[in-house]
Formats: sequence, C-alpha cells, structure tokens
Amino acid sequence: MWSGRFRQRLDQAFESWQRSFPFDCRLLECELESSAVHARALARVGVLAPEELEAVLSGLEQIGERVAGDPELLNNDEAEDVHHYVEIELVRQIGDIGYKLHSGRSRNEQIATDLRLYTRAAIDEIGAALTEFIRAFVDRAEQAGDAAMPAYTHLQRAEPVVVGHWLLAYAEMLLRDRARLEDCRKRTNLCPLGTAAVAGSTLPLDREFMAQELGFAAPTANSIDATADRDFLIEFLSVLSLLAIHLSRWAEEMLLFATQEYGFLHLPEAYSTGSSAMPQKMNGDLLELVRGKSGRIIGQATALLVVTKGLPLAYNKDLQETQEAVFDAAETMVGVLPLITKWMQTVEFDLERMLQAAQSGSMNALAAATYLVRKGVPFRIAHEQVGKAVCLALDRHCELEQLKLDELEQIDGHFASDFYDFVKLENVLAIHDLPGGTAPGRVRQAIASARKKLLEEEAHAHA
Ligand code: ARG
Repeated sequence: MWSGRFRQRLDQAFESWQRSFPFDCRLLECELESSAVHARALARVGVLAPEELEAVLSGLEQIGERVAGDPELLNNDEAEDVHHYVEIELVRQIGDIGYKLHSGRSRNEQIATDLRLYTRAAIDEIGAALTEFIRAFVDRAEQAGDAAMPAYTHLQRAEPVVVGHWLLAYAEMLLRDRARLEDCRKRTNLCPLGTAAVAGSTLPLDREFMAQELGFAAPTANSIDATADRDFLIEFLSVLSLLAIHLSRWAEEMLLFATQEYGFLHLPEAYSTGSSAMPQKMNGDLLELVRGKSGRIIGQATALLVVTKGLPLAYNKDLQETQEAVFDAAETMVGVLPLITKWMQTVEFDLERMLQAAQSGSMNALAAATYLVRKGVPFRIAHEQVGKAVCLALDRHCELEQLKLDELEQIDGHFASDFYDFVKLENVLAIHDLPGGTAPGRVRQAIASARKKLLEEEAHAHA
C-alpha cells in the first residue's frame, strides 16, 4: 500500500504485530458498502469510466459473496487491515483498475466511516433488543395486577408497593437508556467520506451524494475533526456502560430476591446451573454473568477514554486501539439482552410470599402517621407518636394494627376506630395516589403510558 518510499523491508514481527485485520475484518461489509459509494462518486467526477465503475462494483460485490461462502478467507495474513484486504482482493479480481478505487481518499476517512456504519447498526440492534427487554417488564407488571410487595430503602423494609410499580421502576431506567442510544445515534450518523487523510479530498467529490447513499443524515463538517473524531464511540460505550450498570443492579436485586432469605422469586431452571459439589443447589449464573459483564463493558469504555486522551489532531494510529473495545462491548451487550429478556419472561414471582412480606414489619407506619396528620396533628408529632406505637408493637411481637384501641389512645387521643381500616394494606397502597405513586390506579396508568412509549420507540425504529 505504501512501500514506494521505503528502502528496507519491515521487521516481520512488527509487521504482523501492527496488523488490525484479525479484528477489523468485522468491518468488511461496511468497507464494501462505503467503497462502492466512493467508486460511484469517482465515476461522477470522471476518474472511473462507466465500464471501470461496473468492474469495481461487481468486484466489490464478489468479495462479499466469496467471504460469505467461505469465512475462512478472513484468516488472511497478507492484509494489514480491512481496507488493504479489499484492495488486494479487488485487484486480484479485476486487475489494475482496482487500484483506481483509492483515488481521492484515505484509510483515515475509511476507518472513520466504517466505524460509524458499524456503530449505527449496533445501536439499532441493541435498541431493538432493549425495547423487547423493557416490554418484558411492562408485561410482567400488567400480569402482577394489584399484588403487593415491600419496597426497601437502605435495604430495610420501607413501605408496601404494587409489584407492577417496582417492575416499572426498571422499565423507566431502561427507557432512559433507550433514549440515550437514540440520541447518540444522531451524532454517529454523519458521513466522513470525502475528508480523505486530513485536509479533504483533492478531487471534487459530491459529499452530499455519498452521505445520502449511505443513509447518513449529512456529511461531517470539518475534515480534520472527522478523521480524528471518535467521540461517537465514546458516547456509545458510555451509553452501554450506563445500561450495563442498570442491568447489573437489576441482576443483583434478582439474586437477592431469589435467596431463601427473601424468597420473592424462583429462578428459571433453564437459565440457572447446579453445583458439582452440593446436590441441593441452584445458582443464578445468568444473573451473575450479567453483573460480571457489566464490569467488562465499563472497562472497555474506560479503555476508549484513556486511549484517546492526549492525542493531537488528527489521525494517529493509536485510534486503531479503539476498535476492539467497541466490538467487544457491543457484542457483549448483543449477547446479553435476548437472554435476560427470556429470563424476565419466564421467572416465577412468589406473589404470596411478597404479600406476606408487605404486611409485616409495620410498614404501614408512615400511613399511620398520615392518619394522625389528617386528624390535624403536626407531622413531626404524629411521627413521634406512631414511633412509640411501633415500639409497643415490637415489645408485643405484633404489628401496628394489632395494638388495641385503648393502647393507641393512651399514646395519642386522636387515634379512633377508623384507624384500623386506614392502615390496611389496600388503603396504604391507595393513599399514594398521585402521578408516579404506587396507588393501583396510578400504576395501571403508568403501565399504559410505558406501553405507549414502547410503541413510539418502535414507530421511530430504524429498520
Ligand atoms: N487500520 C487503521 C486503523 O484502524 C486504518 C487507518 C490507517 N491509517 C493510516 N494512516 N495508517 O486505524
């Protein structure tokens, strides 16, 4: 590709060590697609005659077909990178005309373009899989109806909530990830073709045409920036990192809830494993791996940040080191999402046990204080009085609502017989009645609005 200026041969070990083809062969499809568009732009400025263009286009097509038929062809130790591979193969097929394809372009713009095409496709694939995962939460929320469970703060039982409300908390955070993916797509979807090595092509190529042909929203604005910019990769892996953090937090909670100590769910056998030593065991390996893989994805995002920091403009070969981080993070996420979706669809919640837990530990204490507030007692005082009642219940080993009315009256004269209905689970849930609260009617509305958001996502989805 560049041997003219060299008097000596490359050191063989260096030669093979600096090659990127073993991993950038993943970009072959993007490379063929963007090269075909560049060829057509060349034909439009007269650098390729019509029959030469035909030869180049059919040569590019055949490269794709040959590799599809025999993926072993990618075990090639001659090509330095995917760009070199295509050139070698093209010339092998159509002769020296193949060398014309590199007129007016540079590998610097090619790799920037290929990575944008790859990232755009990965965003679309991950986005669609994420939508399915979110749908599983919304479906399970609907199925759970008005079932109740404890909500925790500080990992201590706090207040009862509707099971669907808890599930929708995950849907909500994942919908934010979905939106962040879409937003990152906007800055990814710009076309570097025509920016060449650093200063722009020396041929008057139609950049609008090339951008349009590749489905990009517009050409990139500045050739120096376009060849040096990997922000879209950093953004993409940052979005994946935050998504991975959400998946890890979810996995952790599922693992906790699957313990005998909680007993809120039964691990789906199809996605669990046993112990080679302890015959009774069933382990939530899928969840543990999801938690572990989040560390891996965050590690790749960190690698990108560190590789790109301190690089002067414009292209530097360090940028080649960004590729594997992106491939690994994207492929890891693509592998995880369909599995956790199935897990979520098949996991069995122990609604009975959740209900029992929701009704113990005086989780209606805040509702009890609200009862006094509604009788005109200032909240701080109500809090104090209910606290005393909770202490008494603890001494008696009973729940708040099992204390006798005269015991309560001794603590505060505002307690009356209507107290007992007020602190029943059903009412405790019902009084959290405002947008975003856990009152069953509000949760039903939230389910409907989450469904609507999913449909909107699908309507906007890029095919
Ligand atoms: N394989 C290279 C990369 O991934 C392609 C760009 C090479 N450009 C150059 N000027 N050597 O970054």
